[in-house]
Order: sequence, then C-alpha cells, then structure tokens
Amino acid sequence: MIRRYRIRGGRPLRGAMRVPGDKSIGHRAIIFASLAEGRSTITGLSGGLDNLSTAQIFREMGVSIDLDDERAVVEGVGLDGLKMPKGALDCGNSGTTMRLVAGILSAQRFGTRLVGDESLTRRPMRRVVDPLRARGANIAGVSGPKEGEVYPPLSVAPLIDDEHLIALEYTSPVASAQVKSCLLLSGLWARGVTAISEPVLSRDHTERMMNALGVPIQVVGPMVVLDPVGWDRRWDGFTWHVPGDPSSAAFPMAAALLVPGSEVTLEGVCLNPTRTGLFDALRAMRAQLAFTPKGEAAGAEPIGDVTVTHGPLGPAMTGGELLTRMIDEVPAFCAVASAANGRSDVRDAHELRVKESDRLATSAGVLRAFGLDCTELDDGMHVHGGAKPHAAEVDSGGDHRIAMMAAVLGMACEGETVVHDVACVDTSFPGFASLMSSLGADITVEESE
Ligand code: S3P
Repeated sequence: MIRRYRIRGGRPLRGAMRVPGDKSIGHRAIIFASLAEGRSTITGLSGGLDNLSTAQIFREMGVSIDLDDERAVVEGVGLDGLKMPKGALDCGNSGTTMRLVAGILSAQRFGTRLVGDESLTRRPMRRVVDPLRARGANIAGVSGPKEGEVYPPLSVAPLIDDEHLIALEYTSPVASAQVKSCLLLSGLWARGVTAISEPVLSRDHTERMMNALGVPIQVVGPMVVLDPVGWDRRWDGFTWHVPGDPSSAAFPMAAALLVPGSEVTLEGVCLNPTRTGLFDALRAMRAQLAFTPKGEAAGAEPIGDVTVTHGPLGPAMTGGELLTRMIDEVPAFCAVASAANGRSDVRDAHELRVKESDRLATSAGVLRAFGLDCTELDDGMHVHGGAKPHAAEVDSGGDHRIAMMAAVLGMACEGETVVHDVACVDTSFPGFASLMSSLGADITVEESE
C-alpha cells in the first residue's frame, strides 16, 4: 500500500489535541511489564508500529499481552520466565526495540535472532554489541556498508552451564539512551555492578522506571550504577499511563508556529527535562509557549499541557547538551527555523546521520524542495531563515519524522503540497493527518496499491 498526503496550506490551526503516547516510554513500559511478576495495565500507548514490535517480541517469548489500541494488559513472567521464541524476532523499523531487547536476550539461556526492516538493517549496532560482549554475552551482528561497524541481524547464542553476565563499567562514546538502557537491562541478570557513563545525559526513562519499581540503581553525577547485590530480583505488576510524546507534539507545534493566526494546545505531554530541548530552543527563538503542569505519569515522568501561539521568531543556536535533549525534534526545529528572522544553527548532531534516515541530509533535502535555504554541515546545518516556502512535491524516504516535517511545511504554503511515502508515520504518530485536520489543517490521505 502506497500512501501520500495532499495538503492545501495557509489554514490556521486552532484548538487542543492529545498526541499519541511517548514511544520511548511505551517501549520501556511494555518491557518492564513483561518482566514484572503479575499483571500490569498500561494506558495511553501510542498505538504506533514501533511499540507493537516490542509487544510482539515479548509475546513470542511467552508473555501474554492483550493489546487494544492504546491499552495493554500484560501478564508479566518475571526475570526468569522468558521462553525461547520459535523464530527470529522482528523489530520492524524500531532501533529502540532492537537495542533494548538485545540487552535482555544476551542474558538468556536460549538463543535468538533479532531482525529488522531495510532501514533498521542499515543502522549501527556495534555500540551495543561491543559492551555486551565485554560482559560475557555471545552476541554478534554482520558486516555492512561501514568498515568495522556491526549491523543487524543480531544473533545471540545462549549462556550455558555456569556462564553468566559479569560486571561492566562502561563509558559510552555517544550520548545514547538506547545504549545506556540496553546495558542497564542486561545488568538485571548480571553478577556484579553495571556502571554506565555518557558524554551528555540522554533521556532517562529507564532510570526513572527502575527507580519506581525498586530496582537498585543510583545516579552518581554523569554515571548511572545498578548494583544488584542483595536485591531480590523482582518487582510487581503496575498500572501506568504513558504521557504524550513531545517528539510527536513537535509537529503540530511547528505547524502552529509556521501558519499565521494559529494557537494550539497539546495536552498531557511528557515534560521530562531530558526531552524538552525543542521547547527551550523555541523559547530562545522567542516563540510564545505556555506550560500548565499536570502532575506525573509512568514511573515519575512530569507531564503538562503546552500552548503555542503563532508570532514572529528569531533564530536559535542548538548544539551540545541542548541538542541531545532534542535529538528527534531536529526536523521539526529546521522547519520552524526556516521562518525565523536570521540564521539558526544545528551542531553536534552527527547521530542524526544514523537514524531512520540520514536526517541531516533528508531534512536539508525537504527544506530545499520547499525553496528554503540551508547549508548542510558534517555535524549539523545552518538554516537561513526568512524566505517564504512554496508548495512542493516531496518524498519522505520512509522516515516518519521527515514525512511530518514536510507535511507541516506544506501547511505553511499557499497552494498544494504532496508528500509521498507517508505510511511510515504510523511507526510513531498513527492518526497524524486526522488530528491535524481536527485543528483546521487541510490534509487528506490518499492510498493506492
Ligand atoms: C531513544 C533514544 C534515542 C532516540 C530514539 C529513541 C530511546 O536514540 O533518537 O528515537 O527510546 O531510547 P539514541 O539512543 O540512539 O540516541
């Protein structure tokens, strides 16, 4: 099935909406519920394909998961209850699924294989394979485009007899929550301490959940330490609500900032400070943003409503720690920066080259397709703001965030924009087009064989 968006721009966006549940939190909630002892209920899940891949993998290892759109009832099997799956475990498009599950499988007494779609098969896995091997895992990937790198499929041989994972003290060369979470999860089965440092603190959902469930972890400066000595290696099932995904909220926010006359409220969004870099960047651009805190959800995640009002924008510089806190929002940021009065910068963003697409190249390609000016850098981009976009016909390249970036730029143009290859949006934001329509956008979805 081929799907495209047809958009007639220039319609102001007004009203309130709830974006789908946070993808990162959803993966982790499913994982911790599967490893709990007893029943958990998770509400507010995104319904996106990436979270479904994680759920399906645990089902194939004997966990009963009754999933109905945004709600999952999970019968957890405990840390020693996973069963050998019949075939390869399919992670689809989801790098988070593959990297986090690799940590869990490395500690099991059965062998498995992790596979993914074409995009995932091009993504680097050495960042988890090397440290897992260093702690005794029998895990390997295959060679691929970059010499020395390791790619999916990943094969995991069982630990046998008296083999077990050992302590690990590891400094990750990249700020990556997937690497950190993979190693912390493997540490649940290790004989010894897991201590992970990273150059900049990446999203900390795993740490917050472990804390909430009584897993003995401690954050010591730039290091997170899991010391299982004396721990009873168990937690009970739980009831958690997944807050709205700030990475999805980024797109209606961007559209509101691009289209004059717009004012949009995104309800119940995750406001964990490791995820709010885009909001800080937008504030630096003097965007009108208002926050209403709404308490906590899913393992102590702060949540709130965010209202964004259209108005003039200045440029912003992003890089370093700020960039890590907005790593998935750079395509949305670039779209907004194109309307700012001056040059905005994205720096320290090498990691974007190994996401679902090379997001520096694909974001720059989308800007240019709309007649906007940017200079691609090795580690980022200059966005030369101020020009008015013209309607365009663009292809997402199969990357959900690039498809939504193009869609919001289309909403800012006079005339008709077509975005091809948008079925990928379902990985994180099912219902994107109808939610944007409910705010007043003129966007239709066309499907053909
Ligand atoms: C994620 C971590 C980030 C992010 C990804 C989700 C997670 O990736 O880009 O979309 O849920 O842990 P890295 O860990 O590769 O930075």
